Amino acid sequence: MKIAVIPGDGIGKEVMKEALLVLETLQELEEDLSVDTTIFDWSSDNYMRTGKMMPEDGLSILSEYDAILFGAIGDKRVPDDVTVWELIMPIRKQFNQYVNFRPVKSLPGITSPLVRADNIDFAIFRENTEGEYSNSGGRLYMDKPQELAIQNTVMTKTGITNIVSAACDYALKYGKSTVTSATKSNAVIHTMKFWDDCVAEQMKKYPELQLQSYYIDALVAYFIERPQEFEVVVASNLFGDILSDLGSAVIGGLGLSPSGNINPERIYPSMFEPVHGSAPDIAGRGIANPIAQIWSLALLLGHLGRTDLEKVIVTAIEQVLEAGEVKTADIGGAATTAEMGAAICEAVKSC
Ligand code: NAI
Ligand code: MG
Repeated sequence: MKIAVIPGDGIGKEVMKEALLVLETLQELEEDLSVDTTIFDWSSDNYMRTGKMMPEDGLSILSEYDAILFGAIGDKRVPDDVTVWELIMPIRKQFNQYVNFRPVKSLPGITSPLVRADNIDFAIFRENTEGEYSNSGGRLYMDKPQELAIQNTVMTKTGITNIVSAACDYALKYGKSTVTSATKSNAVIHTMKFWDDCVAEQMKKYPELQLQSYYIDALVAYFIERPQEFEVVVASNLFGDILSDLGSAVIGGLGLSPSGNINPERIYPSMFEPVHGSAPDIAGRGIANPIAQIWSLALLLGHLGRTDLEKVIVTAIEQVLEAGEVKTADIGGAATTAEMGAAICEAVKSC
């Protein structure tokens, strides 16, 4: 398998190093595991040097790979909308990675007060190519009293149907019975009513599954109050983005949450990345938690058919957390990124 690796900025680079060490460990254990990685320094550094986040032919270069392992981007020298819209968005949109899959699963040994239950296990399916994250709109009357901005949400029947199907297929595969839809159709009366209609219509094709629909403001409260009751959550781009950071928080923080930007038809490469960003507040100190990145590697391997290796990595992460001796600062310890990475590599050897 050919994997394109984009570490990005800040802690993206730091946590990616550990994920690559885990991959090396797997290769040591299985000599004929054929994985070719190519590292691309498409980052804010690259932008400062070349005026571009990625080269003109960046997407065509990536199209040659089976999957992309991404770190995180964001650096105060470059506006956030430039880093996002010139690197992550084109990859997600061009490769039709319309499923943003974000598992939310309790892990052992995490004692954050936000962790309200030890049996949380659900998945968020965030629509990833349209919705609120569109570049349609604009600003008018700049610097005048009547200045205004318009941001259009673009939802298509195909887009909504696709994400609902992905969520339902996953629910059936993993024996779940309820799919929860995040909406706000009481206030956002065009796009969100359309969302509700398309979700309900598509769900009719899955009579085994029950549809539960909540307004997003109530749903965020339920995420805190009873996260263990959810099974599969389907949401638009913006709502899914917000819900997944909250999902991370209820299992112990952003350092623990992986994600996949998936093209289910496998026509294009899918991209795997932690939910978190480049964390400028801790970057350069070697204290970031690499688990989200290592778990993202696990999802990538699973997507490419090696669910056995995915399982090995997830079990190794769980073992290290359960033993509790090596913990980074975000989960109440003092271990460095490298120490956490090394502990997971060791555990991988014994899994
Ligand atoms: P962030 O996720 O980078 O950080 C939020 C908080 O979580 C910070 O306090 C950070 O220290 C902590 N945190 C995040 N990951 C951690 C880890 N692995 N270990 C320990 N602590 C961790 O989000 P923020 O601060 O909103 O954004 C920072 C930059 O990242 C911005 O430039 C933003 O645009 C970018 N960003 C990029 C994303 C991506 O590359 N896909 C996603 C989210 C944000
Ligand atoms: Mg986010």
